[in-house]
Amino acid sequence: MSFDWLVPFHLWVKWLHIVSVIAWMAGLLYLPRLFVYHAEAAPGSDKSETFKTMERRLLRAIMNPAMIASFVFGTLLVLTPGVVDWSAWWIWIKVAAVVGMTEMHHLFARWRKDFEADRNPRPARVYRIANEIPTVLMIVIVAMAVLKPS
Ligand code: HEM
Repeated sequence: MSFDWLVPFHLWVKWLHIVSVIAWMAGLLYLPRLFVYHAEAAPGSDKSETFKTMERRLLRAIMNPAMIASFVFGTLLVLTPGVVDWSAWWIWIKVAAVVGMTEMHHLFARWRKDFEADRNPRPARVYRIANEIPTVLMIVIVAMAVLKPS
């Protein structure tokens, strides 16, 4: 199957990919920060209920659609002839870090459900540490995607 028709849209797709990724990252960096504060709020309190709403909306309205859009536009870039050289090692580091980022997304979604049900078993410290992981992955991914070291 030929994907030559994608070539004229390369930069447009890349623009949409970067916009989606920015929205996804905003959520991945902010949601665990909300968990840090939520872990310190008493279950059932007004504060805790407000965090639940913030977390649910952030995940459903921003992070889930932004993750899907990042994958859709990223996959279109992968399919665009001449864009990815699979013999370069950087692309494999990017793939591994993107898998890690997706894992973090799903982990945070599970943690959100714990908070929703008022049964958070983890101390705030765990969320503080988890908060750093998407940051590190993002630094690695952007370095690979932009510098393309070979
Ligand atoms: C979700 C799965 C992803 C796929 C399949 C994917 C795939 C790609 C591909 C094939 C390119 C090359 C475009 C080109 O060189 O013209 C690209 C560019 C880029 N990606 Fe991704 N990507 C994904 C996720 C991410 C994430 C999570 C980030 C950031 C945290 C990211 C940041 C970038 C950036 C900044 C560029 C532009 C690089 C440049 O042209 O200088 N991508 N992506």
